[in-house]
This record gives sequence, structure tokens and C-alpha cells, in this order.
Amino acid sequence: MEAKLTREQANDLLHKYVKGEHYIVHCYAVEAIMRGLAKRLAPDDVEYWGICGLLHDLDEETCPWREDMATHGPTSARILRDEGFGDPVMENAIMAHNPVCGKNPETTLEYALIAADPMSGFIKAVAQIYPDKKVASVKHKSVNKRFKETRFAAGANRQYMMEIEKTGISWDDFIDISLEAMREVADEIGL
Ligand SMILES: [Fe+2]
Repeated sequence: MEAKLTREQANDLLHKYVKGEHYIVHCYAVEAIMRGLAKRLAPDDVEYWGICGLLHDLDEETCPWREDMATHGPTSARILRDEGFGDPVMENAIMAHNPVCGKNPETTLEYALIAADPMSGFIKAVAQIYPDKKVASVKHKSVNKRFKETRFAAGANRQYMMEIEKTGISWDDFIDISLEAMREVADEIGL
């Protein structure tokens, strides 16, 4: 799949619309996981899947999601179109990471993105437990253990994370792929 924009253009777009450093590093983490998943699920589309991850929260500081969660997703799609990068596949994937907006995930790409988003935050939360707070220290076993503690990182939607199984990737493989992906960009994401 050919993206309408290059990774560099996508990164510029992200920085144009999102200023908060914590949001930007979150987008880099999701991009990394999406690339890791694409290597298994869509080897020809690694860059494309990465860009979908990179831009999934493009509207974070533009739409009034605190008042109306349904605006999160469609606003990113509108920004892409307004910027001349309209792409139905990418727009749908971005919208489907927030089903509250009315678009449910239906494709492998869409299931991957809705799962990768909370997984990135979840792994970050697990890393914070370790003395060095590094993703390099995070063990597969700890991710599994904390996943079952519903009060731990309660904001990370477990149901969305489990959507990964609809792509054919097991929960255990998802943990490994995500850990490896986040370790590769550890410096950029401050972990
Ligand atoms: Fe996100």
C-alpha cells in the first residue's frame, strides 16, 4: 500500500498539529509497534502501517475529545484530507482506533492499531515500576501479570489490546513484538 505521504511528511504533520511531547512520544511508540506488527502481518506495508500509527492521534490537541470523545478520529481524518493527504484506508484505521466515533475495526490493519495504541501506554506503565524505568528491563512475564491486574494502568483498555488476536497474532507474541519494537526506539520515546 502506497501512503499518500512519506514518513518525513507524516512526522512534519504530527509536529504541526501536536505540540505536547508526551503525545508525540506516544505516537512514536505506536508507530514502532505498528511496524513490528506489519513485519509479521503485512511485510510490504511496514512503512504504511508505521505512518498509520504515527498519525493515529493527530487530532489530540485539535478536537474537543474531553467534551465529545466521538470527535477523536474523524478530526484526524479531516486534517489529512485538508492537508491533501486524504486516504480512506488510513482514515478508517485512524477512526477505528476509537470505536466511540462510530467506526469499528474490521481489517487486520484496524485491529492492529486499536491494540497497539493501549499496548504502548501499558508497556510504558510497566517500565515505570522498574528502578531504571527502562523498557529494556521490562519482562514478558511482568506485562502478563500486570495485564491481569485491572487496577494497574486502568486507562489502558484491555479489551482493545486483546483485539490483536483477530489479526492472528497471539497475545504472547504481541507482548514480544511490542517490547522489541519499543526497545528499538527507546531513546526517542524516553524509555
Ligand atoms: Fe493513542
